[in-house]
Amino acid sequence: MHKTSNAPDEARAVLPIGPDFDQHDPEFGPRAYAVLDASREAVRVSRSELYGGFWVVTRYDDVKAVAHDPSAFSNCRGPVFPEFPGGTSEMIPITLDPPELMSYRKLLTPLFSPKTMGRRSQVTDEICNYLIDQFVESGEADFYGQYSSPLAGIVTLRFLGMDGTDWKNYTKVSHALSEKGEFSKLSEEDCAGFIPEFMESLQAFFTQASENLKDAEARPPHERGESLIDRIAGAEIDGQEVPHERLTHIVNNIFQAGFDTSSMALATMIYRLGRDNELQDLLRANPDRVSDFVEESLRIESPTTLMLKTATRDVVLGNAEIKAGDSVLISWASANRDPREYEKPTEFDIDRSPIRHSSFGLGVHRCLGSNMARTTLKIGVTELLRRVSDIRIDPERAVHSATCGTVFGYRRVEGTFPPAAREGSYPDDVLSGPW
Ligand code: HEM
Repeated sequence: MHKTSNAPDEARAVLPIGPDFDQHDPEFGPRAYAVLDASREAVRVSRSELYGGFWVVTRYDDVKAVAHDPSAFSNCRGPVFPEFPGGTSEMIPITLDPPELMSYRKLLTPLFSPKTMGRRSQVTDEICNYLIDQFVESGEADFYGQYSSPLAGIVTLRFLGMDGTDWKNYTKVSHALSEKGEFSKLSEEDCAGFIPEFMESLQAFFTQASENLKDAEARPPHERGESLIDRIAGAEIDGQEVPHERLTHIVNNIFQAGFDTSSMALATMIYRLGRDNELQDLLRANPDRVSDFVEESLRIESPTTLMLKTATRDVVLGNAEIKAGDSVLISWASANRDPREYEKPTEFDIDRSPIRHSSFGLGVHRCLGSNMARTTLKIGVTELLRRVSDIRIDPERAVHSATCGTVFGYRRVEGTFPPAAREGSYPDDVLSGPW
């Protein structure tokens, strides 16, 4: 039995989402769950007039209904709201709607199967141990900057078939992208200073991905490996070769989806562990419970908070008269805490049975990378607990996303622990070897 209450934040009096609500206001981040709870109970489908107006869907059944009805709620503008000033960069499959979406998902789903991910768990294990070796002797670490962020970045790059040593350059781009709603808060002057540099880094990623794809396309299939790039090179859909440019859009989607989600999810889990020694001890003694810990953590603090859908026709959803063209944000984080769906939803309880959540989405766009994310999170927690004892996180030095773009969680988790020895249990090419 391990239960803790997440009460302090929720206990503060808060107003539900109203016409002035801004999910990118730094005041919202620390109170996000309380605001979403209040909106779910007092309003159901809320409305803000900012950014041209948008709806926020908070109840589990409503979130599910929207996610399962792509004919009424399109993904064509991508998941982030408001859109990046330079326009949404093409991502496949997340910006597609059925029926085209289904063709691409058919192509991609086998690449993410539990079997495929299981075969690669050794690689994830080695990356974890390499990263732990870099800080384990010192007795202190920022578990986000030195562990969860590089882990998610290196795993994603190696899975793609790109060089994991580049993770630092690309992490910067991915942070900006995942929280790009924040760009809406930048002054014109700041935009002028920041956006060209950001676009340059993104372009560098695209150029490298395109070169790797061309290299794979030039090799005969039997000389290609297991990476995503090697496996999609030359792919056909309905007997037609997928154009090179569209393949780069697939790589872009995996890149943007793989970095910040898993890294913040793991950092948020380590924060919880570092504040609860009893929980650490329980999981060290029972590593088979790490899966339950991961799932309940994903439920109670969803790394994906709000995602955009665009209404294609007029729809009545509860109290809301949604018009064609309206922006509709659905909240996985709120759905996960709906008391109509979960008993004692604000209580963290790894003994729930079954532990389920909508953090990987629902419906036609359900996360393609969920098996990969689960493998990374499970091994990330297990190896850290095996190698590092008595982790203590200093809440004063932890930094959580201040505003709520698409991805949400801890971005700095500093802590201490008794120094331990390096193990060196990884190959020399741990950052850049083939997937
Ligand atoms: C804890 C980690 C993760 C969470 C919480 C998460 C969450 C989500 C959610 C909520 C969606 C649905 C989007 C929608 O309805 O429009 C989604 C889609 C997607 N995710 Fe993840 N994700 C995670 C990790 C990953 C990883 C590691 C990858 C790949 C390396 C990945 C790849 C994708 C892709 C490709 C899609 C688009 C699927 C489609 O549009 O059909 N995700 N993810």
